[in-house]
Amino acid sequence: MERTFAIIKPDAVQRNITGKILERIEANGFKVVGMKRLHLTPEQAMGFYYVHSARPFFKDLCNYMASGPAVVLVLEKEGAIAEWRKLMGATNPEAAENGTIRKDFGVSLEKNSVHGSDSPESAAFEIPYFFNALELV
Ligand code: RTP
Ligand code: MG
Repeated sequence: MERTFAIIKPDAVQRNITGKILERIEANGFKVVGMKRLHLTPEQAMGFYYVHSARPFFKDLCNYMASGPAVVLVLEKEGAIAEWRKLMGATNPEAAENGTIRKDFGVSLEKNSVHGSDSPESAAFEIPYFFNALELV
């Protein structure tokens, strides 16, 4: 069984659609093995997205991720990393495939409602950034 890391981003939490997104996650066969709600500081968001630190959108992205509470998740499924990326859809909601979370809930390229690890290496960094072993059940 593979594990991936996911975030229900501040735009979605603020619009009260956390439950709707969790429903999609469970309906698609993912087991939620870790879950908590938190409000990141800009510094914590910068640490999380350090791979994007040279990108022009980095500062805006970190401020947005720190703009309100988010829900962080660890999801388990066979092929969880690729499967969750598929269910999220393309980064830009306008380009996302029908039936994906970003297509149905995303509001813009930045406020695209969800995050997912893009590789096993990313998942191995992102999961322990937010969870210790006792919190994954
Ligand atoms: P994520 O990391 O959040 O799962 O998204 P992703 O892999 O699909 O996209 P990535 O390239 O890793 O970008 C991370 C997040 O940065 C915001 N973004 N803004 N203004 C822009 O040009 C721009 N490009 C990306 C999005 O919130 C994206 O999810
Ligand atoms: Mg990414």
